[in-house]
Amino acid sequence: GLKQLVGESPVFVTVINKIPAIARCDATTLISGETGTGKELCARAIHYLSPRMGKPFVPVDCGAIPTELMENELFGHVRGAFTGASLSQGGVIQEAEGGTLFLDDIDALPLSAQVKLLRLLQEKEYRRLGSPKVRQADVRIISATNRELDEEVRREKFRQDLYYRLNIIPLMLPALRERREDIPLLARHFLGKYAAKFNKRVTGLCSEAMQILVLYEWPGNVRELEYVVERAVVLTEHAVIPGADIDLPSRRAIRPRKSFKEEKAEAIAQFERSYLEGLLVAHQGNISRAARTAQKNRRAFWQLIRKHQIDVQSFKRG
Ligand SMILES: Nc1ncnc2c1ncn2[C@@H]1O[C@H](COP(=O)(O)OP(=O)(O)OP(=O)(O)O)[C@@H](O)[C@H]1O
Ligand SMILES: [Mg+2]
Repeated sequence: GLKQLVGESPVFVTVINKIPAIARCDATTLISGETGTGKELCARAIHYLSPRMGKPFVPVDCGAIPTELMENELFGHVRGAFTGASLSQGGVIQEAEGGTLFLDDIDALPLSAQVKLLRLLQEKEYRRLGSPKVRQADVRIISATNRELDEEVRREKFRQDLYYRLNIIPLMLPALRERREDIPLLARHFLGKYAAKFNKRVTGLCSEAMQILVLYEWPGNVRELEYVVERAVVLTEHAVIPGADIDLPSRRAIRPRKSFKEEKAEAIAQFERSYLEGLLVAHQGNISRAARTAQKNRRAFWQLIRKHQIDVQSFKRG
């Protein structure tokens, strides 16, 4: 359900609050977001809050199935459909009957399969490979992508008509670096999870460790944060994890292609925001103490907070 989705930041909550209504309506849903942002978790939440909850949730990773096998995977085949097809076999559409089919990495779906999927969405009908018999299907389709699907449409890698069909209800998950306020909450959540799993007496993260986590860019988003906390719990010999036990890849190189001026302005804005958030985490939202550490006066400090629209209140609990 929704309880597994940890996060209290406004950008995250706005998205998550849509899930119950999406679950009820049975419409085709496209979840987009970078890798590790929780797309599959949301898809499952939608299924298990929907009237289809008693029927199967079937995930299919379109990126992991070879192009020539994709249609077989989806639609199944009849005996003799191709060399080696000695038995008839249903595909995942049949497996998901009455339930939800989750098509992950939908952008990787081959064009030939796209045509057939469109037909399924429009007519609720399909045929097994090698069979003239039309079958009825009652499945809800939720798909996910970590690419800009409209860009794939422009590049003619993805059919526009299918894109519109899949995207009846869009759900866009924010990157973790766009909701850094949630990092302390998530870190504590995973710390509790892995302390219990490995039966270790680890009770928290020191403020320096937390600051390191809040400042990092998280290209792998929540999944990466989960691994990092898991590793720290496993490796640490302290009850409160010190900064030295947080193991992160070194800062990624800056992307080229932008002008020096743009790159610099962006880097500064990013630095300011991260620096402020790191301080606020370390001082639990206490502005006077944070400003003193930064050696800035309170007024200048507040100006920066407002400039970056940081919610100071969210650093005060926990
Ligand atoms: N908001 C969240 N609260 C708790 N755990 C989360 C949250 N978001 C993601 N996770 C955890 O992070 C991991 C990755 O999530 P998930 O598999 O849903 O990501 P994804 O968007 O499907 O990634 P990919 O594009 O790489 O498939 C999972 O272990 C999931 O439980
Ligand atoms: Mg996934």
